[in-house]
Amino acid sequence: MTLNPKLTKLLNEQINNEMSSSYVYLAMAAWFERTPYAGFAQWMFAQSGEETMHALKFYQYLVDRDAKVELQPIEKPKMDYKSVMDAFQYSLKQEEKVTQQINDLYEVAEQVKDHASKNLLLWFLNEQMEEEKTVRDMLDRLKLAGDDAASLLVLDREAGSRKSTGGGSRPNMVGGGA
Ligand code: FEO
Repeated sequence: MTLNPKLTKLLNEQINNEMSSSYVYLAMAAWFERTPYAGFAQWMFAQSGEETMHALKFYQYLVDRDAKVELQPIEKPKMDYKSVMDAFQYSLKQEEKVTQQINDLYEVAEQVKDHASKNLLLWFLNEQMEEEKTVRDMLDRLKLAGDDAASLLVLDREAGSRKSTGGGSRPNMVGGGA
């Protein structure tokens, strides 16, 4: 079954939305790298990898459906944040925006009765629900920690245990060989 043109356009836009999201998280990781919070930097780096995988999932879906992939430029992300809380609040807004985009896509897939696309988008809706919950939980704990450095460092250490997509951590080039 040929992919509906409107759905094709929106799925292509979603590749861009997910890549933009990956860029937002990479910018956050870079910002955290200039703070004492190496754990939050790792968390953001891992999330950036997740978002790239989401973009690639949409890419592969379009290829599998024999639809044309159209890549667009990625917008420059916000590079500076006021605090740990500020970064995670921005992350929540980012995730809520993506959830809305996926919801809208699902509605179009439903209108054109494309059940395979609905199936793909359901996977993403569940993923979004999990991602929003993870960020909300972090925000709750950040609120509890407030300005207490010791509590923030505990949360930072915990965040740092998050593995990047593929199981690794941020690449350590310092002193690394070829
Ligand atoms: Fe792939 Fe969290 O949006």
